[in-house]
Amino acid sequence: MLHLASQIAETAAFVRTHWNATPKAGVILGSGLGDFAHEIEAAATIPYADLPHFPHTTAIGHAGRLVCGALAGAPIVAFQGRFHLYEGHSAETASLPVRLLAALGGRTLIVSNAAGGLNPQYGTGDVMLIDDQINLMFKNPLIGVNDDALGPRFPDMCAPYDKQLQRRAVEIAMREGFVLHRGVYASVLGPNYETRAEYRMLRRLGGDAVGMSTTPEVIAAVHARLRVLGLSTITNVGSPDSLGETCGHEVLTVAAAAGAKLSAIVRGVVETL
Ligand code: HPA
Repeated sequence: MLHLASQIAETAAFVRTHWNATPKAGVILGSGLGDFAHEIEAAATIPYADLPHFPHTTAIGHAGRLVCGALAGAPIVAFQGRFHLYEGHSAETASLPVRLLAALGGRTLIVSNAAGGLNPQYGTGDVMLIDDQINLMFKNPLIGVNDDALGPRFPDMCAPYDKQLQRRAVEIAMREGFVLHRGVYASVLGPNYETRAEYRMLRRLGGDAVGMSTTPEVIAAVHARLRVLGLSTITNVGSPDSLGETCGHEVLTVAAAAGAKLSAIVRGVVETL
């Protein structure tokens, strides 16, 4: 971890040579949601390949770029692409965008993802406000020697998602006239989608949506004492008793179609920071 802090300081120093502002927030754009970055008045766009200590991203639907600029007049950074554990990345690598955001002085993380609905009331194209999470990846970005400069050894997780940001997101959805569910995000390693028995199990365990990302990032964000807002786009519904096939391209198409709802929330939240 000591190693990580100095690496991230180098990454942040590099970003500052291109864009020297303190971001009000950082947004991690999930599968199919990368287009949101076009809403930012970009001052610098840096491919991950150019960022010291960042790996190249490979997942479909993820560009692998850091976009720095202004949204609604506020300086923000957007991560167009994340590091998934199913790509072979460690949980610590998955948390690099969060660590970079914190090193740049950002205090708010907005994290988005594409997820399968487990709650039978959810429909394709709906958006869920993440109220809580279950980490079923059994991997953790905080494993190893703790760097007290980055955060505490045993971070509390009683409320990983910020209540005030949640309230704001609900207000925006009401104003815009779309449904915003509130539920529990369960994360699995992937990369296969779930079997019927697994969707049934995840529902019984308390999940409302299932995906292959986010929980390591949010653990690191809580460790770094960031305020977190989490949003899932429901791209398919895992109904165990009438399950159709799920395919990656369909997931991306549905996520992109729901992008306007996500954009409205992110913009509205950033405006109030
Ligand atoms: N399961 C896991 N991850 C996902 C799903 C799913 O059904 N849909 C989109 N991401």
